[in-house]
Amino acid sequence: MAVIENAKITVVGAGAVGAATAYASLIRGVARHVALYDINAAKVEAETLDLAHGSLFTGSSQIEGSSDIAVTEGSHVVIVTAGAAQQPGQTRLELVGTNARIFRSMIPQLVEASPQAVFVIVSNPCDVLTLLAQEQTSLPPERLFASGTVLDTSRLRWQLAQRAGVAASSIHAHIVGEHGDTEFPLWSTATIGPVPLLEWKPEGRDPLTRDELDDVAHEVRTAAYKVIEGKGATNYAIGLSASRIAEAVLRDERAVLPVSTVLTDFHGLSDVALSVPSIVGSSGASPIHETRFSDAELGLLHASADTIRATAAEVRA
Ligand code: 2OP
Repeated sequence: MAVIENAKITVVGAGAVGAATAYASLIRGVARHVALYDINAAKVEAETLDLAHGSLFTGSSQIEGSSDIAVTEGSHVVIVTAGAAQQPGQTRLELVGTNARIFRSMIPQLVEASPQAVFVIVSNPCDVLTLLAQEQTSLPPERLFASGTVLDTSRLRWQLAQRAGVAASSIHAHIVGEHGDTEFPLWSTATIGPVPLLEWKPEGRDPLTRDELDDVAHEVRTAAYKVIEGKGATNYAIGLSASRIAEAVLRDERAVLPVSTVLTDFHGLSDVALSVPSIVGSSGASPIHETRFSDAELGLLHASADTIRATAAEVRA
């Protein structure tokens, strides 16, 4: 049960990702109330009805939806999925102009309607949009963060589980940095159960080779492009990831999740939003400053930061 009695989450955007996020939240019983908000009245009404029609099978959550922002009022968690989505072959960063414009007017209204909420940015490029939204609202960085590489980390653990012959839940490895083309795995601290990943011997064979690990990293980094090419969008996995984050907040789990917050003096990085392992609970997300990086990994993290900063600067200009 959610720590907060009568908890309310709002999903902003009734597109493929928003609808999947609301659906996942209902099935996981994340909150007593789930609200869906979209400026397209016909769409949000249809998605809400379709979700409500299954409520006999989704426990005690109540679903409501509207194109009136009042439906978002009093939320404990607001998950923002609104905006343009990647088209086949398009990078997430290329969405920044359109989505930054949408955010500039929408985010302050959402904050005014739910001033105490934790805001989770899913729209892309989520790191840049988080940095801009945090600057605009001056919300504490722990209360406005992005889903970041939670989804990529799930993709990584699924890939490794196939190769290592172990449950994904027993693979402790993270993708960090930009939720995008400069993301990378933290191999140096990855373990499978108590065994360093680089020493793990899948059944009857030698440890995973460097080439195999590079293949895994490439598969993860390009996963969204492959799915978008085939079905036009990704939605199920990001919906589950966003719902999982909301659950950690509402249950005050203090779960370690690689969400993207605006960093302060994190291994020499400040004023940039990037995913690093963070503690997620009822107050929001706090980066784990003790996270260890090899020199090479620290270089990749700073390179990722440069990409986010450069893209944010383009939009501010
Ligand atoms: C994903 O990685 C498109 O960012 C979205 O699935």
